[in-house]
Amino acid sequence: MAKQRTSLFSGQAPAMDSLAFRLAGAADAVRQVSAGRSLPDALQATFTALNVDAASRGAIQDIAYNAMRKLGSARFLIGKLTKYPPAPEMLQHLLACAFALLVRHDNLPLRYEPFTTVNQAVQAASAIRGTAKAKGLVNAVLRHFLREQDQFEQMVNQDEVAQWNYPAWWIARVRKHYPNQWQSILTVGNQPPPLTLRVNQRRTTPEGYLENLHKKGLKADIIGPSAIRLSRPLPVNQIPGFMEGLVSVQDYAAQMAAPLLDLKDGMRVLDACAAPGGKSAHMLELADIRLTALDCEKKRLKMIHENLHRLGLSAEVRHGDATLSDWWDGTLFDCILADVPCSASGIIRRHPDIRWLRQPEDSHNLATLSAAILENLWGKLRKGGKLLIATCSIWPEESKEQADFFAFRADAKRLDAFGQLLPTFDGLNDHDGLFYGLFQKT
Ligand SMILES: C[S@@+](CC[C@H](N)C(=O)[O-])C[C@H]1O[C@@H](n2cnc3c(N)ncnc32)[C@H](O)[C@@H]1O
Repeated sequence: MAKQRTSLFSGQAPAMDSLAFRLAGAADAVRQVSAGRSLPDALQATFTALNVDAASRGAIQDIAYNAMRKLGSARFLIGKLTKYPPAPEMLQHLLACAFALLVRHDNLPLRYEPFTTVNQAVQAASAIRGTAKAKGLVNAVLRHFLREQDQFEQMVNQDEVAQWNYPAWWIARVRKHYPNQWQSILTVGNQPPPLTLRVNQRRTTPEGYLENLHKKGLKADIIGPSAIRLSRPLPVNQIPGFMEGLVSVQDYAAQMAAPLLDLKDGMRVLDACAAPGGKSAHMLELADIRLTALDCEKKRLKMIHENLHRLGLSAEVRHGDATLSDWWDGTLFDCILADVPCSASGIIRRHPDIRWLRQPEDSHNLATLSAAILENLWGKLRKGGKLLIATCSIWPEESKEQADFFAFRADAKRLDAFGQLLPTFDGLNDHDGLFYGLFQKT
């Protein structure tokens, strides 16, 4: 552990409860994302390497997520405020994290006093291996920004990537497909996500659970048949009744999947891309079905087991590839949920790193994979049975076009489903951007 710790800091690390330590930790995570790693994996690696305690984990995570939501403006400002890209590269990641705390956003209060952020960023630069010599640069850049903040923020608003904080191709694509909603889609994607719960209807009711929350002084609203949104996010272990299986964490859009299948007791159901098991669990809460939960990622099967166990539910959890048939016993299914792999472009507010990790051509490759999955699954559905295509994407190539193509099948009847749900945050109408297409085998 000590050996890894020295790989971020050259000598004595700043105190773990200092902002300097937390900025350095967040910069380390941002560095890994720049190298192609997902932010949750990057944070986990940083936490392990630095042996970070629970309080600092939350703070580092908060800065790193915020940095992802403001990376466009931070990179723009670094470009404006320096002659050459600061080297070593770690300086750019540190500055990006500092700018994430300094740039004003939607009139929200800043988490730290600006001069505290500057001083602590300088402390972090002094401590991080290889950046000590540039601590003067960090100081100069950040102070220059603060001196002329209004002008710099105006410049940010004149550059599309800096203003919206998405790659240019992403902005162009949202604008092309959603000419009337593109600004609200991009805006929602930059907001911190709500904590939405799905009430386990086998154990309680939304009204009963809401009353329980109110008794504990927690504000919340019912926003869907089983969906409750907390006014302020909480760590899962502090959500009343979570460990006892009264509720699960699930966005409201994701909660719309299971009811679409109109499940009845005794039905044989396949969840073909099941991990971590959110929609599997919801289906099992709604009816006494015989569920096979399949996923090709062996290590993600553990999450399905854990979720089902916590909720007191059971299913046959199988490791297998939904493009193949070696996992199948030959008995046809009454219903199939195909929550196919996608770019996750509809859940950007929960995963702000995704926009920087994805490439424009990913959609095409993902669509090819999901078409193969759907083709294979259709052969495993009984006549009269239903197949629900789901994605958490807003790119038509992965979702709408996929379902439209499927509708050409001679033996498929398209049923009503939601189609493309756009990410929305408007009063109680608050959900991610998912797609649903429903088909019956004729
Ligand atoms: C969007 S996630 C599913 C989320 C899940 N349905 C839920 O609600 O919790 C997609 C899943 O598909 C799995 N997957 C990707 N390709 C697959 C394949 N060829 N066969 C089976 N599962 C696959 C991934 O491992 C991932 O867990």
